[in-house]
Parts: sequence; structure tokens; C-alpha cells
Amino acid sequence: MNTNLSSSVPSQLETDCLVVVVLDRSEKDQSKKDKPAVTVESSDDAVREAVKDVISSAEVTGKAFETTLLHRPAGLKAKRLLLVGGGKAKTFSAAELRKLAGTAVRTLKSKSIRSFAFVVPETAVPAGQGLRAIVEGAFVGNFDPGYYKSDRNEKDQKIDALTIVVHGDAHDAKALERAMQAGRIVAESQNFTRDLVNEPSNRMTPTIMAERAKKMAAEVGMNCETYGADKIKQLKMGAFWGVAQGSDEPPALIVLRYDPVGAADKIHLGLVGKAVTFDTGGISIKPADGMEKMKYDMAGGATMIGVMRAIALLKPKVKVTAVICATENMPSGKAQKPGDVQIAMSGKSIEIINTDAEGRLVLADGLSYARQLGCTHLVDAATLTGAVVVALGYVNAGIFASDDQMYERFANANKQAGEKMWRLPLDDEYKDNLKSNIADMVNAGSRWGGAIFAAMFLKEFAEDTPWIHLDIAGTAWMEEAKPWIAKGPSGIALRSLVEFVKGWES
Ligand code: BES
Ligand code: MN
Ligand code: ZN
Repeated sequence: MNTNLSSSVPSQLETDCLVVVVLDRSEKDQSKKDKPAVTVESSDDAVREAVKDVISSAEVTGKAFETTLLHRPAGLKAKRLLLVGGGKAKTFSAAELRKLAGTAVRTLKSKSIRSFAFVVPETAVPAGQGLRAIVEGAFVGNFDPGYYKSDRNEKDQKIDALTIVVHGDAHDAKALERAMQAGRIVAESQNFTRDLVNEPSNRMTPTIMAERAKKMAAEVGMNCETYGADKIKQLKMGAFWGVAQGSDEPPALIVLRYDPVGAADKIHLGLVGKAVTFDTGGISIKPADGMEKMKYDMAGGATMIGVMRAIALLKPKVKVTAVICATENMPSGKAQKPGDVQIAMSGKSIEIINTDAEGRLVLADGLSYARQLGCTHLVDAATLTGAVVVALGYVNAGIFASDDQMYERFANANKQAGEKMWRLPLDDEYKDNLKSNIADMVNAGSRWGGAIFAAMFLKEFAEDTPWIHLDIAGTAWMEEAKPWIAKGPSGIALRSLVEFVKGWES
């Protein structure tokens, strides 16, 4: 999708479709009844005139994601005018605007429209922020997961060109251009991640994932090393290998390094990702119903690869290393069995109670390795537990943090990125559940508080390094389409992580 900026008066712009946001300003207070209940977010009189009738007809309410398409709007050079509802004006922010841009893309592409112009709301959000949100939302909305439909090429409905209309000329054109490019980099990286996650396990093996990371790294000029079983054994990654040993597909340890000149040497961020390219559960096999979804169990790793892509292009001055542990989790004659004891890279012994609790095993060694590489702060992302879905549903991802200061930084980044996440606890009381009769700890405990148990397990391997764990099991895959995003891989956490990394810039 091509993107370009325009500062023309919206009504004077020639386009297939002009998109304008409308907001609901209705108030409960009866004394304010004569104020307009729905406002159009453009000061262009011609635009206001063109929408006057449809607004006064009460057909347009401003309700979030409501779309109204008008043809040949009077007084406008645009062929069509699309009004998108942004909900209550009081709560409207860049996060809503991002979704509206996605909604506009998905509404228009389904009508075979290939290009449009989006008017940045004038008062609701600062211009640079609004512009970035629109670019991000539009790219995310343009993603279509139907990769293997044989009529995909005929049906390929995508927006080719997006014009973003900024009002007035008081803005610093260079700053706006930069905001647009940044939005594009982040959103394309999010779609890069979604692309990896969307592939089924026969087309996204650990080896293929490593190749894709290498290819991306070469394109953006970043260092990428990929290793196989030999290196995993040589590093004594007994927990990672315990999972990998059951599969005929070789595992991959993927290391991406971003080390810019001028970065402070005191800070070295480590991003660790779970990339189980298919999770059958192993010998503790999962029920058949819904097992096909376990192809997205590599989403945490795919997220970290996408974050590194964005970082390499945005070039913040902060050192970042990503460690991605890729493997299948299979039952076989070589597979680990319940009761087996594995010695992790850190030297800690683990009694395997349930081979389906494999994510924490691969991450345990990933975290140790990131520490060995010198990382001073760790973040991991993983589709780790069904229990986080019980706790937070499909709406919020779970955040766990061992360090409050680091959490504050992450929470700020998360707010900027407009992604929904919620902090869960890591009290010492939960630690009792880790006890094993035979080893230092078990890999799975009671059913209750399962997401917290998994996080407590990981904490043992982050040791004293400040660490954040993101459990994205309920949010990495959209169970249904939304107005702004297709059903399928969501790319959750990437934007927050990119913001988080940028926040450490020296
Ligand atoms: N990959 C799953 C978690 C998961 C569940 C991801 C639903 C996406 C959607 C993970 O490896 C797993 O199987 N976890 C078990 C742990 C249990 C055996 C302690 C779970 O959550 O049931
Ligand atoms: Mn599992
Ligand atoms: Zn898993």
C-alpha cells in the first residue's frame, strides 16, 4: 500500500473515497440539548454541508465503527464520502482512531475500492499522533489471512493507495513525514509477524522460521545467527532439548542482534520468544477438538522477530538481542515422558509432570541464554497458558513483571501502542506449587492460577535480572473478525514492545 500526505482542503481532493470521522457528542444533561449530538471531524464547510442531511436524519449516530457511504457528495471532488463513527467524543483517542482506519480499509476494500483519503480528525488527537495511528490501523486492516485460497488472486481485495489529509499548514511537514514512515514500519512489521503466525505448521517449521528470520535480517542489515540441535545440546539446554527431542523436525535457536553505535553499554535488552511451531501436547497429548489452532503456538517468537525488524528500521540507540526458541512438541518414541527429569541450562532440574507444559521449558533456556549473552533486562512473549484465557478472555494479554520500574516503563509503552494488557501477580506464596519430590521443581502444578504458575516457573530462570513476561495465548489469534481486523493472527504485543524498546534510547 502506498501512503502519502496531503494538506489540501478535504472537499478539493480528488479521490475514490474521502473518509471522515464523526463523533457522538450527545450528553445526558438535558440543558445542553440544543448542542449538536453528532459532529463531523473536519472544519471544511463543504464537507459539513455535504453531510448535514444525513446527520440530521439521525441515520448517523457516531456510534463506534458505524459506517455510512454517500455517493457523489455535493460540493466535493471525491467520488464518495465515507463517514466512520468514532463513538463518544469524550473517550476518543489515537487507539480508537487506529481502529477506525482499519474499519475504513476493510469496508472499502470489500467494495472493490482500491484507494481512498482519510481526513485526520482536527481536534480529537494531535496531528502527528493521529497520522501515525491512521497509517498503522490501515495496514493492519489491509491484511488478509486467506493465503491458500486458489481464487485468491482474482479475489485479492486490497487497498493500494492511502492519502492522509492533514488540516491547515501550521505543521512541520518533515515531522509529519517521519510520523508516517514510523507508523508504516511498525505496521508492516506487525503484518510480517502475522504472516509468520498465519502459516500452518507444515509450512512454518522451526527451520523455515529460522530462514525467514535470516532473510528479514539480511534485508534490514541486522545480524542473525541460527543454530540447530548440536548447539542446543552444547549449551546444555536440557529443557529446550527435552521438548525438541520428540520431533523429526530439527529445532532452531534463532539469535538476532541489534547493536547500534552510540547506544549506552549499561542497557542491553533481551527479547525471548516461544516458537512452538506445533503443539500437540506431546505424550500428554491434547484432545483433537481445536488442536489445529496450535499452529499459532509460535506467535511469541514471531512477535520478537517482527519487533527486531521494526527496531532495525527505526534505529533507536539501544542495544537489543532477541532469542527465539523454535521447535515442535510431538509425541513419538523419542519424546520425553511424564516423570522424566531434565536439567536446564541454568543447572536447575525439572520434573516433567505434563509434556504439554512445554512453552515454559523452551523459554527457561531461552531466558538463561539471553542472560549469558549479557542482557540486563528481559522480556518474553509466549502463547503460554490456556489459563490466561480463563482469567482475561480474548481481550487482554497477561503481563507479569518482577520489577515495578520496568513494569511502569512497559505500561507506558503499552498505553502509547493502544494494545490491551493487564498485570497479574507474582507473589512468593505461589512458589509452593513449584515443589517436586525428585527435582528442583515441577513443570506443571494445580489447575488453579495456571497462568501465574507458569510465570513463577519462568521467574526461576530470569533469576535476578529484571524481567517481564507476556502471556498472549488468548490474544495472538482473533477468534472472530472485528470491523478493523480480520479473523486470524493479530500481531499483539509487537507495537508495545517497539515502543518499550524506543523508551530506553540514550
Ligand atoms: N500452547 C499452550 C497454551 C495455549 C492454550 C495457547 C490455548 C493458545 C491457546 C501451552 O503449551 C499449553 O499447552 N499449556 C497448558 C499447560 C498445562 C498443561 C499446565 C494449558 O494451558 O493447558
Ligand atoms: Mn502445550
Ligand atoms: Zn504450547
